[in-house]
Amino acid sequence: MREGPATVVHRQDYAAPAFWIRQVELCFDLDPVKTIVSSKLHIERNPAAEPQPLKLHGEDISVLRVMSGGESLSFRHEDKLLVIDNPPADAQFVLEIRNTCSPEKNTHLSGLYTSGGGFFTQCEAEGFRRITYFLDRPDVMAVYTVTLRADKAKYPVLLSNGNLVEQGELDNGRHFAVWHDPFPKPCYLFALVGADLVCREQKIRTRAGKEHLLQVFVRRGDLGKTEHAMASLVASVVWDEARFGLPLDLERFMIVAVEDFNMGAMENKGLNIFNTKYVLASPATATDVDFAGIESVVGHEYFHNWTGNRITCRDWFQLSLKEGLTVFRDQEFSMDMAGGASARAVKRIEDVRGLRAAQFPEDAGAMAHPVRPDSYAAIDNFYTATVYEKGAEVVRMMQTLVGREGFERGITLYFERHDGQAVTCDDFAQAIADANPGSELAARLETFKRWYAQAGTPRLKARGAYDAEARRYTLTLTQSAEPSPGQPTKEPFVIPVLAALIGRDGGTLAGERLLVLDTPEQQFVFEDVAAEPVPSLLRGFSAPVILDDGLGDAELLTLLAHDSDPFNRWEAGQRLALARLLAAVQAPTTEALDTPFVDAMRAVLRHPALDPAFKELVLTLPSEGYVAEQLASFDPQRIHAVRENFREQLAAALQTDWAEAFEANLVQEGYAPTPAQAGRRALANLALAMLCLHAVRSGDAVWPGRAYQRVKDASNMTDRIGALAALVHSHSELAEPALARFHAIAGGEPLVVDKWFALQAQASEPVGAGHGRAFARAKALLKHPDFSLKNPNRARSLVFQLCMNNPAAFHRADAAGYVFWAERLLEIDPINPQLAARLARVMDRWTALAEPYRSAAREALARVAAKPDLSDDVREVLGRALE
Ligand code: ARG
Ligand code: ZN
Repeated sequence: MREGPATVVHRQDYAAPAFWIRQVELCFDLDPVKTIVSSKLHIERNPAAEPQPLKLHGEDISVLRVMSGGESLSFRHEDKLLVIDNPPADAQFVLEIRNTCSPEKNTHLSGLYTSGGGFFTQCEAEGFRRITYFLDRPDVMAVYTVTLRADKAKYPVLLSNGNLVEQGELDNGRHFAVWHDPFPKPCYLFALVGADLVCREQKIRTRAGKEHLLQVFVRRGDLGKTEHAMASLVASVVWDEARFGLPLDLERFMIVAVEDFNMGAMENKGLNIFNTKYVLASPATATDVDFAGIESVVGHEYFHNWTGNRITCRDWFQLSLKEGLTVFRDQEFSMDMAGGASARAVKRIEDVRGLRAAQFPEDAGAMAHPVRPDSYAAIDNFYTATVYEKGAEVVRMMQTLVGREGFERGITLYFERHDGQAVTCDDFAQAIADANPGSELAARLETFKRWYAQAGTPRLKARGAYDAEARRYTLTLTQSAEPSPGQPTKEPFVIPVLAALIGRDGGTLAGERLLVLDTPEQQFVFEDVAAEPVPSLLRGFSAPVILDDGLGDAELLTLLAHDSDPFNRWEAGQRLALARLLAAVQAPTTEALDTPFVDAMRAVLRHPALDPAFKELVLTLPSEGYVAEQLASFDPQRIHAVRENFREQLAAALQTDWAEAFEANLVQEGYAPTPAQAGRRALANLALAMLCLHAVRSGDAVWPGRAYQRVKDASNMTDRIGALAALVHSHSELAEPALARFHAIAGGEPLVVDKWFALQAQASEPVGAGHGRAFARAKALLKHPDFSLKNPNRARSLVFQLCMNNPAAFHRADAAGYVFWAERLLEIDPINPQLAARLARVMDRWTALAEPYRSAAREALARVAAKPDLSDDVREVLGRALE
């Protein structure tokens, strides 16, 4: 690891490369201890650049020789570069490099590494330089031919990008395969796999009548869990062609599942590599949420084939060009797959809830950065909710401003202009605007692009005035944005506000209309409004802003009961709950919940027409994290105590309704991960949790007994873990035996064991007597024989769940949670810096903590930051936190 501060890269410093690499021939002699890589690079000088040395990236690899035209070339090392001072002077030349790397020592899981006895790669963002020396930047695109050689018995399957052109036997029990990918690609999209795998395959015919082969590779024994991934892949192929006219451009499209993986999955051209979590599913091992996650990640990676691979990023500052757009596409895909209006709305609510849980705090914290960042030390730190999810909202706003058809025209123009190129976020926005002259977007494109440049979540204030005589409603919208690191002042944003006016009786006074705010303050007039309305603003969450519409209880109750926009209907319920949570958190004691609120919740729960999935979302109180985000200084223990108290009150007050909801939503049909079934299971599980909570408080054994029975004999994982969670979070005596049962039933299935760890790490910390039990349990699990910090899924299920998703267990007055965090961070960093840097992000919002947590957090941060050998990744995150 390096000494001293890492190099910071700035967006403004971008310069085209002095050399292009047009063609690459790679040959791998795969061996876990020492793999030999031979590479032949067809290089072309960029005539626009000054003559200069050729500097190739390389990290944790050893060079054996460098040759050109049959002669050795001299080279030297400079930092993490291999410098060739005198490359051939010709406009085009061939460079031959031989180097070695050690896959089995590669615990970073970046580059070429081993997992479960096989070879796998992960090259985005800068992993290719850990395989061989190269111009490891996305604007250098080449055509690859790859030869793989390995022991045939141990590694019967040898895969790389593109098409298989040759395979055969070698001496000593080895075999080989040659792959050719006809599409020029940046090296971050390179992949290889050498392992003992089996595959499910299926043929698919695209509209042009061409047949394509789809394959999903997994370890022996996992084949029975690939049906859903394959179905999702088929659906993705069909959807992209139907919605955007983008067909599959490869003869063969492969997905490979691997157990050790830093992220969700990777869109390598024709050879997507996936975390097992996003491939393997059966009703017995995966929840409805897991099934939905697989559909969306399979879609996401597949959609990258066009948005990311056919058109890629010029530099890593443009990451959102492909990620924001592809998240938008996978969200739309899941919505279209969900079917009806209500299921679509449920998906939108879930996406927004996710954005607020992860991206809003990021935008308000130490790591705040624009969708298109300006600088970085470790690019892996910028695979963030801002680049992904806020980036998707920016794309969604464009669609709102040009309309759905206009947006599809824009996508078509984007591909006409840039197919095969490495481009920027500006190029994308320009294409959407140019395809829609005269649109709300084209009229203010430069202002709109501030969404790429400015960090922070804007605040939108709305105040209305009704003139009964003139039957006129005047809405005044104002916007503001707080400073963020490096950006003390902000220019106004373009904020699309979908708005309607609702009558106090629930009728519509003015239909939905798009208001576009692009100055600090603007007025919008609604004529011919029959009575004083309740405004329903920012419908469907039409912009990623924090809305203050000044509405009181009566108005919110009206929206909750009547708004025809399901998002705002849900939002009204959340705001009613949030107002009460915030009031109680800031008061000395927690009072009884008021009748109008409880009645409104009951009305939703009992409503004959509302979807169970929607009811579950309304009846779930805003999370502790979301409550914390509303406060300038927050006490995690107080928030937890208040929220638990509210849950108990709702459990008690609605007891008979919960029991009815539970019975009414039991699914009798065979398991299918459809939105309809999933919604019923979600509501039944929430009901069961509330029933257990109340039963444990009142000493009643019936519901916990039922939950325990369900842990034992549930026919699917959603119900099994739902029942287990109900027992654990209510602190039932049956929680222990149920956990033991669950572990036994898991039978060592890794993804199920992950759930077992995760649930305990999230266990609700008892308020009052028994406080500290959840933390102690999680800490003790570090010593469990099934636990390992080396497998990212396992580390995430225990350590990250505790530190990120269990605030009351983590933020302790005695600072033991922070000590736990610091110790794990220092253990993980030398093994896997990317993973460690994610864990470091737990402290992003430490400055908003109340005392004594704030001082203790700072101390823990400072202590870790003082260690000499930290990775660049961790150092960047801690540095920003302490700035
Ligand atoms: N491009 C991948 C995806 O979103 C993620 C790769 C992340 N890699 C990383 N080193 N952070 O689909
Ligand atoms: Zn992606």
